[in-house]
Amino acid sequence: MPDFYINPETCSKCGNCVEVCPALVLKKSENKIEFKDDFLHLCLGCGQCMAVCNTKSVFAKGLKYEKDFFEFSDSNDFFSIVEHRRSVRRFKPKPVSKEEIEKILFAVSQASHGDSHHHVEVTVINNREKIMEALPLMSAFFDKLGGWLHNPIMRTMIKLKKGQHTLNTLNNHLLPRIEKGIYKEYSYEYDGITRGAHTLLIFHAHKDSEEHKEDSHIFVTFAALAAQALGLGATIIGLVPAALNKSKKLKKIFQIPENHDVVVSLIVGYPKYKYKRGIKRELKKVNWVS
Ligand SMILES: Cc1cc2nc3c(=O)[nH]c(=O)nc-3n(C[C@H](O)[C@H](O)[C@H](O)COP(=O)(O)O)c2cc1C
Repeated sequence: MPDFYINPETCSKCGNCVEVCPALVLKKSENKIEFKDDFLHLCLGCGQCMAVCNTKSVFAKGLKYEKDFFEFSDSNDFFSIVEHRRSVRRFKPKPVSKEEIEKILFAVSQASHGDSHHHVEVTVINNREKIMEALPLMSAFFDKLGGWLHNPIMRTMIKLKKGQHTLNTLNNHLLPRIEKGIYKEYSYEYDGITRGAHTLLIFHAHKDSEEHKEDSHIFVTFAALAAQALGLGATIIGLVPAALNKSKKLKKIFQIPENHDVVVSLIVGYPKYKYKRGIKRELKKVNWVS
């Protein structure tokens, strides 16, 4: 069997796998679902196409239904929330209520933080129109970034300022997607950056404030789990802070002070698709010391 394969005998052609793929690796044509050969290198190996398939007909490179997935348990506790949580990138056109967002913010307020007077602010954009206002600028930023990443002087500057690890992420993860135009197309319903979400939470703080990066990441994790517990779907979006920190105009649209460091963002909405099974994930290494 090839690395990427759809079993034509069993595939129901529902197209759910096409919709949930974060990297647009699959397509639905008239009477079949197929992998796009020229997008295969963008596959994250996240397993969502296989987790959502009703008939176990999709096979992505390196993943097996028996080995890499699990059946959901019946429990309704924290572990059930954890096993069901996925990064959701397709939403129903149903707005999230203020009450639900307030519950998410309550969960965030209960999170650990490094300083009793923590400095992280949350900006809530509960309005697709407002997100749409920012998308052309974000998209233009990633276009420009693609150009910089082809320029040896700019690459050296990024390396000196942000470190080799950031350059690696930009090169290996972002550039191939920029080149395929994933962040170029946006509409009211869908886009490759905020994924058509109605709600966007942005975590930011004054750039000199202590431990704001650590706190923001803990806060966003609480928010994502709270969203799952409420029957909502959420995804951490690193692209939004990357663009916001480079653009005064974008910060202005979202009313974020210019001297603030935007650390992370979370899109939230009602998930359009339900996953049929969980995806096993392995920790890099566990060292038991006795
Ligand atoms: C720091 C961080 C930044 C991320 N940025 C994005 C993003 O910009 N766009 C996106 O679609 N997913 C983003 N993700 C989601 C990851 O792609 C996702 O968590 C990963 O593929 C694992 O899938 P899962 O969350 O469904 O288990 C981000 C996740 C993290 C932790």
